[in-house]
Amino acid sequence: MSFAQKTIWITGASSGIGEALANAFVQQGAKVILSGRRVEALNRVAAQAPERCLVLPFESTDYPALPEVVERAWAWNGQVDMLINNAGVSQRSLALDTHLDVYRQLIEVDYMAPLALTQWLLPKMVERRSGHLAVVSSVAGKVGTPLRSGYCGAKHAVIGYFDAIRAEVEAAYGIAVSVILPGSVHTSVAINALSADGSARGQSDPNIENGMDVNVAAEQILAGLAERQREIPIAEGIEAMALKLRVANPEQLYSLTAQEGARLAAQREAGGSLDPSNIRSD
Ligand SMILES: NC(=O)c1ccc[n+]([C@@H]2O[C@H](COP(=O)([O-])OP(=O)(O)OC[C@H]3O[C@@H](n4cnc5c(N)ncnc54)[C@H](OP(=O)(O)O)[C@@H]3O)[C@@H](O)[C@H]2O)c1
Repeated sequence: MSFAQKTIWITGASSGIGEALANAFVQQGAKVILSGRRVEALNRVAAQAPERCLVLPFESTDYPALPEVVERAWAWNGQVDMLINNAGVSQRSLALDTHLDVYRQLIEVDYMAPLALTQWLLPKMVERRSGHLAVVSSVAGKVGTPLRSGYCGAKHAVIGYFDAIRAEVEAAYGIAVSVILPGSVHTSVAINALSADGSARGQSDPNIENGMDVNVAAEQILAGLAERQREIPIAEGIEAMALKLRVANPEQLYSLTAQEGARLAAQREAGGSLDPSNIRSD
């Protein structure tokens, strides 16, 4: 499938995976709606093809603003062919230390926000009997890993919502639904991840620094979307293995992640800093 002249709406387009997706879609001749909170960063992304980009900034958890945001997006070209719910925030803290508000924030940004935006756009796609909804979940949406209990919960939940939506609208209305499952991709995700008290972690970690190149990840995501794949894993090495083990031998996977948890618990008991997990993924 060609994306030329298609209208693609990407949230979290101001950095990382969303920015790389926006660049790739623009190169393929698409018209791209760029959303996020940082207007300057969105303008920088749009500068490569201003005539084919609409900068549409909004805070994704500002639910009362969504009806107008969706109207503006739709009015730009009279339709939206694809929505990629990509905006998100990760976590680096053990459950034992994590404030309840951090869980609430992760659920809002990583689950409620993509759900709410999709709820407003879905009726328009249903009316057209056409469209493609996508969400960037994670390997962590299939595999529970230490230091990410709130993130894993939200990323698991968002898969449940989109799988159920697919069951309702794919055959009935011809609307595709794709769930994207990246492993570690080299972006600012670890720097922006929430700590136990809700503050941004402020530093990256080796898993992410050595993660997949973001443009390679974007190319693979585009290839999956072009085929309207229902599930698009973007993972290598131990993360790809974890996805397979989750289905083939979950007991073995649980033992591996428990070993990782024991290592982190020992570090916590010793009062040291916590190394990011080996069974990882944001
Ligand atoms: N990198 C990885 O290893 C990895 C792996 C699996 C899944 N993911 C997922 O991939 C997605 C993109 O992450 P990334 O790696 O590209 O990290 P990133 O560079 O930190 O990008 C996060 C994006 O989300 C936007 N965002 C965050 N909170 C928002 C809010 N409240 N309202 C509106 N926009 C918000 C940010 O835009 P503003 O700051 O401008 O608002 C930014 O563009 C996330 O859903 C993440 O969970 C990443």
